[in-house]
Amino acid sequence: MSELEALAQRIRTCQDCPLGRTRTLAVPGEGPEHPLVMCIGEAPGYHEDQQGRPFVGPAGKFLEELLASVGLKRSDVYITNVVKCRPPDNRDPLPGEIEACKKYLVRQIELLQPKIIVTLGRYSLAHFAPRESISKVHGKPRKIKEGILFPMYHPAAALHYQALRSTLEQDIRLLPALIKQVQEGAAQVPSAQPSAQQLSMF
Ligand code: URA
Repeated sequence: MSELEALAQRIRTCQDCPLGRTRTLAVPGEGPEHPLVMCIGEAPGYHEDQQGRPFVGPAGKFLEELLASVGLKRSDVYITNVVKCRPPDNRDPLPGEIEACKKYLVRQIELLQPKIIVTLGRYSLAHFAPRESISKVHGKPRKIKEGILFPMYHPAAALHYQALRSTLEQDIRLLPALIKQVQEGAAQVPSAQPSAQQLSMF
């Protein structure tokens, strides 16, 4: 068994936060063991909790459409979430739940070593850039220590706010060029800049 699969088994039996008692199935994630691209969402919803697989409900269908629009299949990318168990009634994950689950995402990234990390929504963006606002940084790739961060809105947001659909469709169009640059070993993206808030401390 690979280390990634051993980690997934550990996630499936995890009781490190109260979500372990209310979930049906934990959702470790799925995809190739050495992906170029890793997509990280927020937390499993109803369908994911039933099936133990990430992004298999309506948001997942839209994610697959977005990927297909730039020539990618779902199976080309590794897909997971910040929190691996469904919060009851699909509420937002709590800080303690995010903290308890953080070790799994950190280890998955270490094992997978993706070149491009696509964050879907504000919770996964916050894992890498806690002070950034998704409305400002979506569609803007940047270098981080784990690789290239490519923040996008969450696909579910487009299902609630029609206007975000075209934003997501536009943002993902940048992904092929980014993949090409990575494959050619010449990614031209800026490193993280200090935010105005950080600078105001000095
Ligand atoms: N929303 C998420 O953030 N993750 C899923 O797996 C499904 C819906």
